[in-house]
Amino acid sequence: MINTSVILVVLFTTSCFSVPLPSTFKKCNRKEADFNKCLTTAVQDALHQLDKPHPEVGLPSLNPFVSPITTIRIGAGTSVVHFSQVIRNVKIDKFAEFSALNASMDFNTNVLRLDVEYPVVKFEFDYEIDGKILVMPIRGHGPENTSFEVIFTLEEKNKYYKVVNSTMVFKKLEAMRINLENLFDGNKELGDKINVVLNENWKGIFQDLKDVYQKLNSEILTSTFSKFLDKVSASELFGDP
Ligand SMILES: *[C@@H]1O[C@H](CO)[C@@H](O)[C@H](O)[C@H]1NC(C)=O
Ligand SMILES: *[C@@H]1O[C@H](CO)[C@@H](O)[C@H](O)[C@H]1NC(C)=O
Ligand SMILES: *[C@@H]1O[C@H](CO)[C@@H](O)[C@H](O)[C@H]1NC(C)=O
Repeated sequence: MINTSVILVVLFTTSCFSVPLPSTFKKCNRKEADFNKCLTTAVQDALHQLDKPHPEVGLPSLNPFVSPITTIRIGAGTSVVHFSQVIRNVKIDKFAEFSALNASMDFNTNVLRLDVEYPVVKFEFDYEIDGKILVMPIRGHGPENTSFEVIFTLEEKNKYYKVVNSTMVFKKLEAMRINLENLFDGNKELGDKINVVLNENWKGIFQDLKDVYQKLNSEILTSTFSKFLDKVSASELFGDP
């Protein structure tokens, strides 16, 4: 009896009641004329408020952002690196410090698009290649003067949006600083030399790792955004259709 009522309560709360958006978040109604302009401001405002987490709506802090996906495996041959690679413990700093952001939503196709521009974003992750763990790129900067587009295809199911798929594509990248740590069992002199060479060749390295970066980012963003969409109903987000 006790178990049944617990299950009923869980079902009830997860399927019927949307969590309200935090009162400090701007709301936009899908029927308003300038919806995308409103959405742009709303997303900008919301991201600026993520200097702390908002667990009630499933949103993490972006200061720094710690990926909910702890391990990402990249099969051999996916990039020029012909070993299987494992990326762990992804942390992204300055994720809320964009210089420009546009958001738009097409309610006919349920495609949500974000275009974001950053002076600098810092990616930090453990990178394991051929069984060796490296840490990259940190302490300096990651991508600089960069912009990218994120596209989520959503579907509305039982009053909630779900992410069907997503893509993240770099549009611009003017510089990238790479810093691998723990090279050569911590031999700093040799490690520094390698880092200088890597940074001199950052363009080629970025081209090689671009697909991996993009896939990694779209997976992380989808996982994060899905937790929010699971809590806040479509009508709470954008009003009734
Ligand atoms: C946002 O949209 C404006 C107006 O269309 C455009 O000038 C600007 O470059 C866009 N910014 C980004 C980051 O896409
Ligand atoms: C995402 O899903 C939509 C709807 O199923 C499909 O039209 C689109 O091609 C997919 N996009 C990608 C990048 O897989
Ligand atoms: C980034 O953009 C700023 C402002 O346009 C510029 O001063 C700086 O040199 C750029 N940095 C790189 C690494 O391109």
